[in-house]
Amino acid sequence: MPIRAESLWRERPVEVPTTPLPQAVEVLVAGAGLTGLTCALELARRGHRVHVVEARRIGAGTTGGTTGKLSLLQGGRYGEVHRRAGRSALGAYAAANRVGADWLRREMREDPGALHGETAVTFATSPEGLRALSREREASRIAGVPLLSGGDTGLPFPVLGVLRLGDQAALDPREVLRILSERAFRAGVGFSMGARVTGADPLPGGVDVTTTGGRTRASRLVVATGFPAVEDGSFTMLLSPSREFVAAYRVRDPDALPRGMHLSVDHPRRSLRTAVDGSGERLLLVGGEPFVPGRVSDTGARLAALDAWTQERFGVAQRVRWWGAQDYALPTMLPFAGGRPRTGERILLATGYAKWGMTNAVAAALAVAARVDGGSPPWSEVFERPRIGLRSAPTLVGAAAATAVNALRGRVLPTRRPAPDSVVRARVVRRGLGPPVAETRTQEGRCAVSAVCTHLGGIVTWNDVERSWDCPLHGSRFAPDGTVLEGPAVRDLPRVDEERP
Ligand SMILES: Cc1cc2nc3c(=O)[nH]c(=O)nc-3n(C[C@H](O)[C@H](O)[C@H](O)COP(=O)(O)OP(=O)(O)OC[C@H]3O[C@@H](n4cnc5c(N)ncnc54)[C@H](O)[C@@H]3O)c2cc1C
Ligand code: FES
Repeated sequence: MPIRAESLWRERPVEVPTTPLPQAVEVLVAGAGLTGLTCALELARRGHRVHVVEARRIGAGTTGGTTGKLSLLQGGRYGEVHRRAGRSALGAYAAANRVGADWLRREMREDPGALHGETAVTFATSPEGLRALSREREASRIAGVPLLSGGDTGLPFPVLGVLRLGDQAALDPREVLRILSERAFRAGVGFSMGARVTGADPLPGGVDVTTTGGRTRASRLVVATGFPAVEDGSFTMLLSPSREFVAAYRVRDPDALPRGMHLSVDHPRRSLRTAVDGSGERLLLVGGEPFVPGRVSDTGARLAALDAWTQERFGVAQRVRWWGAQDYALPTMLPFAGGRPRTGERILLATGYAKWGMTNAVAAALAVAARVDGGSPPWSEVFERPRIGLRSAPTLVGAAAATAVNALRGRVLPTRRPAPDSVVRARVVRRGLGPPVAETRTQEGRCAVSAVCTHLGGIVTWNDVERSWDCPLHGSRFAPDGTVLEGPAVRDLPRVDEERP
């Protein structure tokens, strides 16, 4: 049976009746992931006229590729927030996550298919991991999240230390998105699918929004597109993309798979849970091998590393599907939910969940919905400005340096040619001083597009296992024919017809 390169949660599409973009709307929400749908539903319940515009389809973004753990135990996250944003931010971060988790549980309580209760477990198998566990235990205590230590993990390999938190949940993200979109539709929300927001001009009393499906005038625009589309540059330097793989394995004895949701704080970090596929088979999901999109070319080696790790620990395990997904983090590891600068909150943004979006996306969406009514829940203050403390400055400097080096590599230095895979030969070519061209050749023929990212001009790199052109600067990704897949770019890479030797 062929291995499927598609998320388990996108096995069946989520459909919602769609309409053309209206000429005017009160609140336009860009993006139909967890943030956008939660915000749209909440705003409709608050009595607003809401329309959702989605570039691709429901769940096409990170929510459709998540591991789907709804958990207040988040690996080493409390320790990171403590270190980078300080003690005062920690309690508010935990409170926001609790609000997000409670809201989602309430919404899903009548639908047993959408989530089921699990114990969340963080484990360490190395001395460094043990130290990280100890920091996390202390930070969680400050944050007011009561963790238990020790106990059997059920994992088929030894661990040195364990933190656990009962009564968390494993989600079926497809079901979550289906339920939220159906409720939003019933509450009067309109949907336009396949229309990408490409521009937003704040005007007195509103925003003029341009999309690939037409123009509209909105009193407010909520940008819930992962990396915020149409932002003013404030986030370009601050948000770092991180992509990783999730693989689904068939094991010899599914009944022997461990109960609970596991996450290691060691290197390599691994995220584990089980899930049932469309045929009713219980599969082991393993996530990990993070990388910055566009800065790694032999991505196939990362997927192979997941296979090797899983084989070694779980015995015979056949990978039956896999997928990649990416999320964005601010230097403080705190999300942002608030107004785009200098727009008088006519444009609101929500982003930066750093791979803990099942709780944070919901909290951010609720905070944005409250902002539309001029409110601000007490816990949301911590989300309202992308603060940079001294502790997070090194991350920012490192990101800026990497960005500069990558920009230089594409512009000035000879272009490195990634090893061609057996099916697709991909390369970036340049003749003279002309702009570089990203070229793929398959048995079907040749496809050549500009290698210059339409966001801010990064030079794209071939991602061998996902077969995409990825930008090393802020994580935009494009199909071989130049179509935007994700990230901040809103325009496709233009086709280049001229043949280059
Ligand atoms: C590998 C991985 C595993 C994860 N596992 C977990 C986990 O176990 N638990 C957890 O809490 N979090 C997890 N996360 C994080 C979580 O999945 C994300 O934070 C969350 O799904 C983000 O939701 P979103 O709605 O903001 O973005 P998305 O789901 O990406 O939605 C954005 C939508 O906007 C659309 N869009 C983009 N640009 C435009 C545009 N210009 N115009 C219109 N529409 C546009 C996209 O097509 C997309 O549908 C994980 C993340 C990754 C990468
Ligand atoms: S994603 Fe910003 S330049 Fe490509």
